[in-house]
Amino acid sequence: MNLLVTGGAGYIGTHTLVELTKAGHTFTVIDNFYNSKPQALKNVEQITGKPVRFFEGDLLDREFLASVFDLDKFDGVIHFAAFKAVGESVAKPIEYYNNNLTGTLNLLAEMKRCGVENLVYSSSATVYGEPETVPVTENFPTSATNPYGWTKWMSEQILQDVAKADPDFSVILLRYFNPVGAHESGLIGEDPNDIPNNLMPRIVSVAAGKIDHLDVFGNDYDTEDGTCLRDYIHVCDLAWGHCLAIEKLQHMKGVEIFNLGTGRGTSVNELIEGFERVNGVPVPHKVSERRPGDVPVVYADVEKSRRELGFEAKHTVDEMCRDAWKYYKNHTENN
Ligand code: WQD
Repeated sequence: MNLLVTGGAGYIGTHTLVELTKAGHTFTVIDNFYNSKPQALKNVEQITGKPVRFFEGDLLDREFLASVFDLDKFDGVIHFAAFKAVGESVAKPIEYYNNNLTGTLNLLAEMKRCGVENLVYSSSATVYGEPETVPVTENFPTSATNPYGWTKWMSEQILQDVAKADPDFSVILLRYFNPVGAHESGLIGEDPNDIPNNLMPRIVSVAAGKIDHLDVFGNDYDTEDGTCLRDYIHVCDLAWGHCLAIEKLQHMKGVEIFNLGTGRGTSVNELIEGFERVNGVPVPHKVSERRPGDVPVVYADVEKSRRELGFEAKHTVDEMCRDAWKYYKNHTENN
């Protein structure tokens, strides 16, 4: 398929471009480089050996967006572009609702104008809030506890309503659990422009000596070692899931929702220990207060993704730790 990829220069976007290329798809990227860098697309070219067509611009700029849609007939869209920092969204709700929701609405308006009827949307397990039980299936109740999560939840509602109104519109909502790691080349990876808040990039920053120690946000949860469990999934497995979703889109109408996770929970302590063991580097850490809003245990039921997408995460937590550290070392050596 010939695809438009919004936010394609980002962490998950770049890894997906590599998998799309391997699967024989063509694509055009649009990105405003708010939380990414043009060099990331050059690194994708180095991995694939193929040029990446991209345009710098913003989904909030209707003229820019229309100019891209007028350039080419797209068979579908993968929509990554969004602000995604939970804490920042609490401090800047207007920016988050405007950027994430108006961006999605502008994209949908252009898709309708140009007759583009297939969309894969980058959603998040954050819409499950604090699930009553685990593992989490796609029909669990959804909600949010912060503006970032609400923008994901609201975008899902918008897309479902658009699909109801237009029977030819096909949408797949991919609910990511916790993407970590990097491509084995060490050329692309998680490279936020801001200070990372998520666990794995902070472990990397501590191992690199950029941060003195890691605060473990509470070890008195009702889990085996007292720390929170999450479903960490290698970003390359996540990227492959997008290729499977693009294939699925061609044989369906309406909306389908899929969890992209491993189906297994890993605790904070287990991730720290694994990182130290695999990479042979210490990660100084100490227990601190719980982080408000943290959910004790979340991990995916991936049965539907396995059955209907043929999705199966292949990378281990050790490989996630190895690849995250390899990217950091390779990236800093080359900068
Ligand atoms: C994981 C665990 C923390 C940092 C995020 C956001 C959002 C979403 C991915 C897209 C928790 C603990 C963390 C630290 C710690 N992305 N931790 N010390 O909480 O699942 O949420 O998931 O949708 O970015 O919703 O991921 O990596 O922030 O935290 O102890 O310095 O690590 O308490 O238990 P989380 P996380």
